[in-house]
Amino acid sequence: MGHDGAGEFRSKISGIGSYLPEKILTNFDLEKMVDTNNDWIIERTGIKHRHIAKDGEGVSDLGYHAAQKALKMANLTAQDIDMIIVCTVSGDQVMPSTACVLQSKLGCRNIFSFDLSAACSGFVYGLSVADQFIRTGMYKHVLVVGGEVLHPFVNYEDRETCILFGDAAGAWIVSRAEKEYPNVIMSSHLHADGNLGDLFVLPAGGSKIPFSAEVLANKTQYVKMKGREIFKNAVRTMTDCCHEALNANGVKPHEVDWLVPHQANLRILESVASHFEFPTEKVVVSLHETGNTSAASIPVAFDMAFQEGKIKRGQLILLAAFGAGLTSGSLLLRF
Ligand code: UT7
Repeated sequence: MGHDGAGEFRSKISGIGSYLPEKILTNFDLEKMVDTNNDWIIERTGIKHRHIAKDGEGVSDLGYHAAQKALKMANLTAQDIDMIIVCTVSGDQVMPSTACVLQSKLGCRNIFSFDLSAACSGFVYGLSVADQFIRTGMYKHVLVVGGEVLHPFVNYEDRETCILFGDAAGAWIVSRAEKEYPNVIMSSHLHADGNLGDLFVLPAGGSKIPFSAEVLANKTQYVKMKGREIFKNAVRTMTDCCHEALNANGVKPHEVDWLVPHQANLRILESVASHFEFPTEKVVVSLHETGNTSAASIPVAFDMAFQEGKIKRGQLILLAAFGAGLTSGSLLLRF
């Protein structure tokens, strides 16, 4: 497909959907697995439970369900999709990409499909990439999925990490809109600071530390993080990204209807809101039901708020994310 009018188009969100696996892991379940308790988890994180995929269920399976809902809302079929981006750090396998698996499962044409790795900022990164392909006129409908099946990478003997994470997927259809159409992606601002890469890592399974008996002995197949350091940097980077988005658009915080931040920890969200002088009642929070679902967290939180009737068409919405890398980003859109 060629360029047919670069710069003449903007991106609208024609459909959204999300999917949470059935199985639920509560704080009380975790109490039986590791030295923790429900009160501590709620007080320090806000999380009550998280959903866990069943054995053999991968990101492409969760993404498939989310994508089907998004297609239905957009009134499109899989054949209409021109490109697939799956934002994930826990894909079905190293290769082929989860996007290729999903392309086959959905029955799409032989379209451009790839995985994007930016950890918890993945979905904002993915939307921004989709927006570029729409703006140039290259594509009409891009499917962006944020999906994670994190539980196989979590050490359920490490109380600092195992309480946080859950599995989920969210999907958006980003579609071509004429330039004058009001409800569009207005801007995206993305960052990465590799100097802080050691704060949150999954060391083994790549080319530097392939799987071995030593990996299993040292448990380097699991995520490891410096929680307090991540906390500080999360508040700093998400606050900066929120300011950046609003300054670039000449928008004041009170004009934003909803802030949909990466769902990491309730205290992180409250700190960002306070640094950003943004009312906490306009911050979308879903983490009590999902935990931290990395790249899935923003589209899942967004869809839950939409289903509950909080987020409405035409509202001004700010997405903000941070994640391993350290990556961060914001995206302002009129939905
Ligand atoms: O998407 C990015 C992924 N990562 C994050 O978002 C992580 C960001 N960081 C956090 O959310 C928080 O730092 C945590 C939830 C991980 C930890 O909360 P905290 O308030 O920063 O706790 P802390 O690390 O300062 O630990 C306070 C105490 C310690 O005990 P002592 O040294 O005071 O006796 C910990 O050993 O809490 C203890 N602790 C726990 N106690 C019960 C740590 N984890 C647990 C636990 N249950 N699960």
